[in-house]
Amino acid sequence: MKPEIITSISAMKKLTGKHAGLTGFVPTMGFLQEGHLSLVRLAKKQCDVVVVSIYVNPTQFSPSEDLASYPRDFERDYALLAELEVDYIFFPDNNEMYPPDYNTWVEVKGISEVLCGRSRPSHFRGVTTIVLKLVNIVQPDYMYMGEKDFQQITVLKKMLKDLNSDTIIVPCPIVREPDGLALSSRNKYLDEKQRQDALCLSKAVKLARQSVAQGCRNPEVILNIITQFITAAHGKIDYIEFRQSNDLSATEIIDKETRIFLAIYIGKTRLIDNAILLQ
Ligand code: PAF
Repeated sequence: MKPEIITSISAMKKLTGKHAGLTGFVPTMGFLQEGHLSLVRLAKKQCDVVVVSIYVNPTQFSPSEDLASYPRDFERDYALLAELEVDYIFFPDNNEMYPPDYNTWVEVKGISEVLCGRSRPSHFRGVTTIVLKLVNIVQPDYMYMGEKDFQQITVLKKMLKDLNSDTIIVPCPIVREPDGLALSSRNKYLDEKQRQDALCLSKAVKLARQSVAQGCRNPEVILNIITQFITAAHGKIDYIEFRQSNDLSATEIIDKETRIFLAIYIGKTRLIDNAILLQ
């Protein structure tokens, strides 16, 4: 069966409320790539009904960011989701999600203010607000999200816990190109040369893991090595940080829970990556 396209909140609420089994939900901003599709496949395996939302959420972009140019291709997305036999595509417009009198915001203090939150101060407020709205509308049992946005998952888990939601986030591994670049809709912005330069992110992660495998536990030492590496590869560093997976607290000694987090500009495109350091 072809996925049904639902544009109104009231219709979506009626449909998901009606189903008896498990509802799986994959929130997206569209322009789907293999990373998104891997989430949908897992949702299909684990749930009875699968909903994918496609909504480019304006409130998570700052005025200087790429909201207007963010890639969109609904027809292609629809075809991909039809192939995977998704049940419903929730595809609301801005007026549906943020009517003119809209005036409520959800904020998770602390962990929204580090890493990407420092260079994108209003970003997570937009993400938490829209995701809570989507969760209230779709009422999923499970919500599937990719670990490329590890901070997003951590912030959303905290929001759902603090606000007593029953929805469980299922974190899914980063999907990479064969050469290591983490899949992202924003990779589309890279020209050929920048696409090559962008490999410095995954290579830096590899370098960091190698140093840890050889016994290094000092984040400062690894930071020096990969800062030099990324700079030589034409990457402009927004941040490189070492934080604990559970609460994103900063760490001075690398242990099993420590992740490296990177945000690097390749030309004007800001790319992120992260990984556990100690296997
Ligand atoms: O990760 C994304 O694509 C977005 O931040 C999300 C979760 C769909 C909210 O707009």
